[in-house]
Amino acid sequence: MLHQTNLTVNEAGHLAVGGVDTLALAREYGTPLYVLDEDMVRSRMRVYVQAVKAHMRAGSLPLFASKALCCKALCRMAKEEGMGLDVVSAGELYTALAAEVPAENICFHGNAKTEEDIRYAIASGVGYIAADGEEELERIDALAARSSVRQRVLLRVTPGIDPHTFAAVNTGVVDVKFGVPIPTGQALEATVRALEMEHIDLAGFHCHIGSQIFDAGPFCLTVDVMLDFLDQVRGRTGYTAELLNLGGGFAVAYEEGETAPDCGEMIRLMAERLTERCEQYDYPLPAVMLEPGRDIVGAAGVTLYTVQNVKSVPGGRHYVAVDGGMGDNPRYALYGARHTALVADRAGEIPDTSVVLAGRCCESGDLIGENVPLHSPRQGDTVAVLVTGAYNYSMASNYNRVPRPPIVALKDGKSRLIVRRETVEDVAALDL
Ligand code: LLP
Repeated sequence: MLHQTNLTVNEAGHLAVGGVDTLALAREYGTPLYVLDEDMVRSRMRVYVQAVKAHMRAGSLPLFASKALCCKALCRMAKEEGMGLDVVSAGELYTALAAEVPAENICFHGNAKTEEDIRYAIASGVGYIAADGEEELERIDALAARSSVRQRVLLRVTPGIDPHTFAAVNTGVVDVKFGVPIPTGQALEATVRALEMEHIDLAGFHCHIGSQIFDAGPFCLTVDVMLDFLDQVRGRTGYTAELLNLGGGFAVAYEEGETAPDCGEMIRLMAERLTERCEQYDYPLPAVMLEPGRDIVGAAGVTLYTVQNVKSVPGGRHYVAVDGGMGDNPRYALYGARHTALVADRAGEIPDTSVVLAGRCCESGDLIGENVPLHSPRQGDTVAVLVTGAYNYSMASNYNRVPRPPIVALKDGKSRLIVRRETVEDVAALDL
């Protein structure tokens, strides 16, 4: 089994999450069911809060990238643990505000914000809007002028780093839909423009180099590129940034053999590099924001399904079809992403077969995985798919008008619903 201290096999041989029997959860709440270990979520949040406090300048703040899992309960947890929030839509902002996350600790992102988004963000008093380019800066400036405010803004730049090859200042990786590229000189020009705008209060810069990053190397390289850029900006304009948002991307272990990185240590190394570069350029140390999403909630999530049908195709493969699928976890269909699965009823048994774990939607691509090792799966068994806390519920759909599963949070050995199960009436509720 994937090594995670919160996953155990209890006396009955069942998978337990945070000490709670998953079969009992399946019985009480039904399946499919998203289970979220709240104790683990909070402890991941504390890793970031403590590391940022220990190693970064005063005024630094980790933000939970709510796109990974957005609901009011998660926003409240982030607030209680001392994190801010990264939101990318009116829906995420609304959820954060409904959970009473202080607006000043919210950063509003997006590469295609609508006028409505910008108005809502300004009216809500969000701490920062991450502007994606010069045109957007102009729109923010105009809308802030109408509200007679100076909006604090971060300019999103693309440093040109491929986190998986470490290549720096690679124009290939600036050819993306997000941000203003540094290597092409556009970021510098956009900064010059931002500083001329009366209703833009440029607090600093934002960048996000990617996801599933297992070591500090790419982040340190980002710090190098960003400091070089900050120095150029200062040379041209005299402006010094007080804030640097270095984005998210901290990896989690999805499969056996992968080891989750020590993120506290990664943050220490980033801080060390930042201090070194600031000394080198004689630049005032900026405060830092980070935006972890996946690492906060990913490993804390387990999805429970009930096996509906099992079939073997002679000369073909062995199929295990469950009562969920791409509707609640589109990651395999979208990215070929692999998740570890097991039969929760016999969690201690070694897998004796390799199956296609199929979903319930009417399309062949609706798979949760292929070549999935399981122990003697049969109809009625509970299958647990691990590390589904991030980008599962948040990317869930109602394809085939299948209602989305509820989320149950586990804390101190007790369970509580934090998102209720959708009904077929909910699914049809918008139809006129
Ligand atoms: N900040 C920004 C600006 C981002 O675009 C993202 C993720 C994050 C923070 C959080 O990154 P994380 O720490 O979660 O890696 N749906 C995909 C992941 C898409 C990530 C998009 N941006 C998946 O299921 O793997």
